[in-house]
Amino acid sequence: MTERTLVLIKPDGVSRGLIGEIIRRIERKGLALVALDLRNATREVAAGHYAEHEGKPFYGDLLDFITSGPVVAAIVEGPRAIAAWRQIAGGTDPVEKATPGTIRGDFALETQNNLVHGSDSPESAAREIALWFPGR
Ligand code: CMP
Repeated sequence: MTERTLVLIKPDGVSRGLIGEIIRRIERKGLALVALDLRNATREVAAGHYAEHEGKPFYGDLLDFITSGPVVAAIVEGPRAIAAWRQIAGGTDPVEKATPGTIRGDFALETQNNLVHGSDSPESAAREIALWFPGR
């Protein structure tokens, strides 16, 4: 079943020069990019994006981090795209959860600065795509 997911390359991925590496892995997996944009996230979009984490100890730092520099926002499409992207991204904690061969497992050390984001369900994907790419 073809599905869409919202992908972010976070400010650490952009500043470390990993955009090409990450896009290459998306394309190599067979997923399609249907929207792609480099932009600075506003505080409003960041707060909407991470609304489910409001109140958690890391929430304020997370908003500061995600608005600290440009991000790449993308809509990625393909069969089981949500799970496929989460597979190649690796687990949230780049050391304890992400395995070697995944983006986080290969390139990240910290749970906050974990390079990429992916929607975790069809409902999240629909909400996040509407937030980052209204009308798409
Ligand atoms: P992401 O997949 O974008 O979803 C929520 C983000 O919050 C996560 O990646 C991390 O960047 C961050 N995050 C989640 N848990 C923690 C934590 N325990 N400490 C710091 N940041 C976290």
